[in-house]
Amino acid sequence: MGGSPDIQEMAVMAKQSPSANAKDTPLLHDDNNPIYLQLCARFKTAIAEGRMAPGDRMPSVRALASELGLSRGTVNLAYQIMAEEGYLEFRGAAGTFVEERLKKTSNAGSPRLVTGRARAERLPNIRPFQLGLPALDAFPRKTWNRLVSRRSRELGIEQLGHPQPAGLMALRERIAAYLAFSRGIACRPEQVFVTSGHRASLELIMRALHQPGDGIWFEDPGYPIARDFLVSMGAKLHPVPVDQDGLIVEGGRARAPDARFAMVTPANQSPLCVMMSKERRGELLKWAEEGQRWIIEDDYDSEYRYNRRPPLSLKAMDRGERVLFTGSFSKVLYPALRLAYLLVPPSEIDSFERASRLISAGCPEFHQSVIADFMEQGYFIRHLKKMRTLYAQRRQLLVDTMQDVFGDGVRAISPPAGLHLAMQFEGYRASSAKIATLAQADGFGLQSLSSWHMGPPSVDGLLISFTNLSSRHMAETLAQRLKAICMAADQEG
Ligand SMILES: Cc1ncc(COP(=O)(O)O)c(C=O)c1O
Repeated sequence: MGGSPDIQEMAVMAKQSPSANAKDTPLLHDDNNPIYLQLCARFKTAIAEGRMAPGDRMPSVRALASELGLSRGTVNLAYQIMAEEGYLEFRGAAGTFVEERLKKTSNAGSPRLVTGRARAERLPNIRPFQLGLPALDAFPRKTWNRLVSRRSRELGIEQLGHPQPAGLMALRERIAAYLAFSRGIACRPEQVFVTSGHRASLELIMRALHQPGDGIWFEDPGYPIARDFLVSMGAKLHPVPVDQDGLIVEGGRARAPDARFAMVTPANQSPLCVMMSKERRGELLKWAEEGQRWIIEDDYDSEYRYNRRPPLSLKAMDRGERVLFTGSFSKVLYPALRLAYLLVPPSEIDSFERASRLISAGCPEFHQSVIADFMEQGYFIRHLKKMRTLYAQRRQLLVDTMQDVFGDGVRAISPPAGLHLAMQFEGYRASSAKIATLAQADGFGLQSLSSWHMGPPSVDGLLISFTNLSSRHMAETLAQRLKAICMAADQEG
């Protein structure tokens, strides 16, 4: 490639800061702007300014790393990112080249590719490996749009007044029927309160039942959003460890015998995906009954268990009416709906109605009616069934790809359930917190397990979602990038 800049010229470009008018500016260690991203920015500027041209051959990773005094992992990661963003092309043994197609997309000499950051700005809430998202590409939008259109054509004046604070009765009836069928819960629609999300359900519980000073057992590790929300509401949280059988009830009794609430995820412990054993369920219900305490059962994604049928709920065993059951449409439909629900014992309906009138004027009814139609016409159960199969495949795709890319050093520690994997990586010195920070700076939506702990982590690793892995190529590209990030984290120390 006669016209390509040579290694020294490339190194000079890498040393020139885009914001310093091409003056030599050293690449500096910075947690918010890691060196590999600085490197990407400098090469992209060089391409945009025409100092590097489509078809130019890049120096080898080894040569550039040695020229710049950087680790190979750092340079490799920068190359991976630029390749994924369409700036570079790997041509196997022939080397790495500035993407030829940039010629076609260039405008007055500057490429108009969607950069990682620009893409993140366009799709700010859909990031690679992002936790908490269902498979958005597989949502039955056509059916949904048809139901939406029908409802919007039929909008009558009776729908223009105030919504019902506890939710649209048609939806409450559908939820009660679904809970009976799928979660083994016998209940009346009046016990169901529709809310604007899990936090709104928690707020309702706090308003209706929580007294100042009441302690709450909280799973450790456990869902940080609920944890931070409860703390912000003035709750006193007591971390209680979790093992392969779920929350350790004896541990809770030893640490906080006087607590009045326990917040648990018995179907799929969040984030370890273990199922609470029958014995522990019995122990927890006994603890609640003997002290007239409350259990908050968060049933956020119980539908997703891939090697056996989902277990019945804790609520289904609740003879003493001590369980407050919360569900959400975020993972079974989509999170932008902002709709969830709370099921309360019959004896507490009045106090929850009072609390719900106090804190909210109700949720918008339009989408409640669409969900009710979706459930009533059988689409909901069909959708869940389809998604269980899809997620089992995508989960396996992630396990296989990670194994291919990382080798034997990687292992999934969570059972086949939920919408993510908890994974441990051997052979890296960097903590999972450090790796997660670098990955997040690069646009990933994965998290470290340590950030889900209240105390020192009893188990560590990364939490990686597989739901939106729509192809093997995508899985491989992301796994390669993650590997390069792990190496860069090790080398940055
Ligand atoms: C543990 C847990 N509980 C509840 C929810 C539902 O939250 P929301 O209804 O606010 O989307 C989620 C969603 O990610 C979750 O991970």
